[in-house]
Formats: sequence, structure tokens, C-alpha cells
Amino acid sequence: MTPAPAFLSNPQARARWMRHDVAQLLKRFFFCERSLLVSAAAWIPAIASLEIKISLARFIWQNAETAHALRDRVFELRFPNRILEEQGTDHSLIEIFDGVQDSPSVPAFLVSVGRLLLPALRDAYREYLEASDTIADGPTHRFLSLALSEKTEQIGAFEPWAELALSQNPELREGALAWSQAIANRLSEVGGVGVGPAPSAANRGPLPGAKTYAVPDRPARDSRFWPCRFYWPDVVDANYPYGEGMQLQLRSAISHLNEVWAIETGGVILSSFADVLPWEWIHNSARWTYDESRHCQMGYERLMSWGFQPAELPLGTYIYEGASGQDPIYRLGMLYFFETKNIRHKPTRTQLFHAYGDGLSEHDMDFDWADETIHAGYGRHWLKDLLAIRGEDPAAHEQVRERCEKLVSDYVRTATPEEVADVKKIAAALMAKALQTS
Ligand SMILES: [Fe+2]
Ligand SMILES: [Fe+2]
Repeated sequence: MTPAPAFLSNPQARARWMRHDVAQLLKRFFFCERSLLVSAAAWIPAIASLEIKISLARFIWQNAETAHALRDRVFELRFPNRILEEQGTDHSLIEIFDGVQDSPSVPAFLVSVGRLLLPALRDAYREYLEASDTIADGPTHRFLSLALSEKTEQIGAFEPWAELALSQNPELREGALAWSQAIANRLSEVGGVGVGPAPSAANRGPLPGAKTYAVPDRPARDSRFWPCRFYWPDVVDANYPYGEGMQLQLRSAISHLNEVWAIETGGVILSSFADVLPWEWIHNSARWTYDESRHCQMGYERLMSWGFQPAELPLGTYIYEGASGQDPIYRLGMLYFFETKNIRHKPTRTQLFHAYGDGLSEHDMDFDWADETIHAGYGRHWLKDLLAIRGEDPAAHEQVRERCEKLVSDYVRTATPEEVADVKKIAAALMAKALQTS
């Protein structure tokens, strides 16, 4: 007769990963998400398409929310804080993700993110959700299921962008495909993202064909719009009124559309300070960038709904360019300056739009106001922290703001008489069309 077993034991699939194993995997995903979103933020100004800028901002925010949830979950699993701050054995994988920021061209960036990095994360999340325990690890399942569906959406958006970028730039095609092949090779050498053990760390050096990322001095602009530096006459002519009635409706929508500079600036500052400021900075500035993309989209949608064509709409660059060549703290300062400068007008304009019976402008301005209140807080908080980290007086944030005001006014003074005349013509044409269609 066989003796009775001393313990209860039978193989259980759900015990495949212990608490510590799960924390290691989630930490890997956190670093992949972080790296991916920082590179995407950095690339916003270099990509011309307005649709891509707006969508990238949303994807950055989605990925920052996923990374934030991953980070919280790793802490919940009682993983030591100091280990969460280090990439550890996943270093060689994260190095490949980081390398994508140095993509040699826009098509190379879009192809490598859309066809390699995002699918690698999607597949890893799917595997993780299939293999992990829905009881012990239930909290992860909730947010990672959402992240999986977002990754699927993101891949679906990147594919036509990559295809179009390749077909519009045939001279860059070969380089972009060679670049993505080099990344694919590196990824397979380290076993991809996956849910397996981390590969042994090996420093493989820069990817062949890499071009060190630099913040563009000039933002790429969607060629469907009327290109300019100064997008409305009142920017360059102090006597030109901001306006009331229909002129205010138009001016406000054009302002919203031109918040494209704020999406770009959000992306640049997110990436510029990603390694200087703590994680919360990335989390906040991802939301900030996304919010600005919604304001831009609000303006675009209103103008489209009133029957305007993109070619009739001025899309300017002056605020972005006013901070070019400066320490990136002035880009952060520029966002802060414009948030705090304009916020007081918003409730009044919301009321005016209500009085005009323009419910859409009223709605957009009211939501915008709520976002901008959050942003003014971000600006003040992070300017102070950045100054403190640099060993400077945090109270100097007001001086940064003042210098931004001066940078903009100096830049505005470079407007040529032709530019002033042209933007007045464009504004007059918009007003005339608005009168006709009203
Ligand atoms: Fe905004
Ligand atoms: Fe804002």
C-alpha cells in the first residue's frame, strides 16, 4: 500500500508565475512603454501631418497611462523601489527601444514603431494576459486588457502612416527599410519583449544608420494648410482688433487650430526632461500634450463644420520658432506663459459664444478652460522643480516666463511687411466667406 502523500499538490497553470516574476515582467513593460512614448513625443514636431501629430499625442497619453498603471502595480507587488528605477536585465531590450528615437527619417521612425515596437508590445501583453492568473493578478488584467486594445488601435493607425510616408518619400524608402530590419534583428537577438526571461545583457552599440536625434528648429507643417509664421493679423499688428461676433468665433477657432505649436512643444519638453525630472513629469506632460492636441482638433473641427477648406486656414509657427535655439526650459516656459496669459479671457468668451447661440464654440472653450487650469499648475510646478534640480532658485520661474514673453515679442518683430499684408488678406478672405455662408 502506497503511503498517503504528505502534502496537497497538483500542477496548476495559474501558479506559473510567482509574485516576483510578475513584477519583473511588468517592470519590463513599463520601461518599454516609457521609452516608446518619449521617442514619439520627440518626433511630433518633425512629422508634418496634422492628423499624425494629433493622434501621436493621444497615443503618448494612452501609453503614459499604461506605464503609470504598470509602475503602480509593480509597487503594489512590493517590488523594491530602487529596482524599479533600474532597467536591470532588460537593459539590452530597452536600449533597442531607446534607439528608435535616433531613427534616420520620418518614414524610418513610423515603420520601426508601427511594424516592430508596437506589435512586440501587443504580442507580449496578449501572452501575459493568457498566461497570468486572473485571481492573484486581477488588477493587472484590467488595465493591461485596455492597453492591448489600445496597442491594436495604434498599430492600425501607424500602418497607413508608414505606407504613405514610404510612398511619398521614395528616396528614403531603402534607408527606412534597412533601419527597421536592423531593429528587427536586434529585437530577435534579445528575444523580443515577450514574457520569457531577460536575455543576458550585452552592449551592442548604436544601431547601423542611426542619426542622433535633435529637436527641429522649425516644425514640419501639413501642406494642406496655408503656411505662415504669424497666423493672425493681431499677432503682428497691435491695432488689429481681436474682434467680436463672427470675427471672435473665427479668431478663436484659428487659435485653437494653431495650438499645434503647443502639441509640438509638449512633445519636445516631455522628451527633453524625461531623464532629468521624475516619472510624474512624463505622466503630466503626456496628458498636457494630449490636451493641447484636443484643443487643436476642436479648432480644426469647428472650422471644417463651418465649411472652410484647410488651404484657407493659416497654420503658423512663430511661438515654436521663438524658442528655437534656446535652452528647452524656455519651451516649458512658453507653454506656461501662454496658458497664464490667455486663461482669464476664456470664461468671458465662453459666455459670448453662448450669447451668440454658438453652442459648439461655447462647449469647446469651456472644456479648454478646465484643461488650461490644470496646465497652469503643471507649468508652475515643473518649472520650479526643474530650476531646483539645476541648483537655481525655484522662484526664478517668473523670470523664465518673462524671458519667454520677450523671446516671442522679439520674434514677432521679424515679421516682414509682406507677411503682415498676406495674413491680413487671408483673414479678410475668411471673414468674407464666413459672412457669405452665415
Ligand atoms: Fe490649449
Ligand atoms: Fe494648455
